Amino acid sequence: MTMRTVIITDKATGKTVECPVHEGRYGAPVVDLKNLYKDLGVFTFDPGYGSTAACRSGITYLDGEEGVLMHRGYSIEHLAEKSTFLEVAYLLINGELPNQQQFDEWVHVIKMHGMTHEHLSRFYQGFRYDAHPMSMLSSVVASVASYYHNTTDIYNPEHRRLTAQRVIAKMPSLVSKIYRYGSGLPFVYPDNSRNYVENFSYMMFSWPTEPYIANPVAIRALDLLFILHADHEQNASTSTVRLAGSAETNPYACIAAGVATLWGKAHGGANEAVIDMLTEIGDPKNIQKFVDRAKNKDDNFRLMGFGHRVYKNYDPRAKIIRQACHDLLNEMHLNQPLFDIAMELERIALEDDYFISRKLYPNVDFYSGLIYQALNIPTNMFTPMFALARSAGWIAQWMEMLADPDFRIGRPRQLYIGAEKRDYVGIADRK
Ligand code: ACO
Repeated sequence: MTMRTVIITDKATGKTVECPVHEGRYGAPVVDLKNLYKDLGVFTFDPGYGSTAACRSGITYLDGEEGVLMHRGYSIEHLAEKSTFLEVAYLLINGELPNQQQFDEWVHVIKMHGMTHEHLSRFYQGFRYDAHPMSMLSSVVASVASYYHNTTDIYNPEHRRLTAQRVIAKMPSLVSKIYRYGSGLPFVYPDNSRNYVENFSYMMFSWPTEPYIANPVAIRALDLLFILHADHEQNASTSTVRLAGSAETNPYACIAAGVATLWGKAHGGANEAVIDMLTEIGDPKNIQKFVDRAKNKDDNFRLMGFGHRVYKNYDPRAKIIRQACHDLLNEMHLNQPLFDIAMELERIALEDDYFISRKLYPNVDFYSGLIYQALNIPTNMFTPMFALARSAGWIAQWMEMLADPDFRIGRPRQLYIGAEKRDYVGIADRK
């Protein structure tokens, strides 16, 4: 069979380049433009990377038109229903679901790495009492690098494996300390008799004077959210982790770069922004006003938790979270007026031509904050929760990149539109 190619001709010079087209297992074929500059002397221009596949990956597949998301071939619906976050993390990193023995070893090893260096706890004291948790998280994650000088040789597979274990194991401790610091509560060491998510909840919410009994409904809801946030292909924060990692930088610094990117409200920060927006709406009767603002091009307000670069259909994660939110509120007998506002906002937006024609649907962040809120997690901790879960995907993608034979430093080019060449003028002679 002849390989599919795309021919690009520069009409100005008459030069032609024939580019191979690679077929992945699923998804749009990819035109290989590696030789474009060498053969035609031109670059591609694709701001926001809307048409660019930046890497090969076998971790996550998503079909935005159909609303499909899979990790290592397993649908997100199945994983959400049957798996746990720790098992999904194993799957992302190792490519296969673990058997019982592998899983037991994995759980054990994650428990063994759960503590952080005692000196690291002092870092927190340097932050202002009301520092944003994401600013703290990006710093403390980067600081982990300073404790592991001798085990971060990125070309050593054993070091990479160890780093992945440490990242996943230590995130609950790093995140919970942020919350404890902001609340004036003492830090809590992990309790290895508890499972990963329950342990996180224990480090967050236990009271030094009282025994801590976790609510299984809350633990399952958190685990579900972690599964749904664990990875999402080449999104902004994951691409940042890859780009940072491509410079062969320290892996904890790469994860910190991912945290910094996730903070933005166009990305993971949207979960916090959704709650702010729903609170500001305050009553279903005000929804139309906000929808009208979102449609007004002179107003930079957008419906938070709506729209996605890739999904032009309902985000499958949002569908699962909406149902989970509904179930959780029922099971916990909670009356959450913001959930009613969110449902009504979704209904109105999805019947509006503006949103229909642009294929704007609720994304993962639209309902996730409502679950966090029902679990008494403060709004400014939502994005750190997201980061905790996404660190599994970040580290899996980082490992995959380093094992790719095409791996080299990421170095995009540009279309220069600045000043023409000119002579330097001394300050005394400038107008
Ligand atoms: N509210 C109102 N209009 C919107 C929204 C929104 N939330 N999202 C997109 N649009 C409009 C844009 O104004 C644009 O309209 P136009 O064609 O008339 O100019 C059109 O829809 C396409 O939008 P783009 O900005 O080109 O889409 P892009 O793919 O660049 O952005 C993004 C995607 C950033 C997610 C955007 O939809 C957005 O800002 N949403 C709100 C923030 C949010 O929820 N982010 C979380 C994303 S999920 C995640 O990262 C975990």
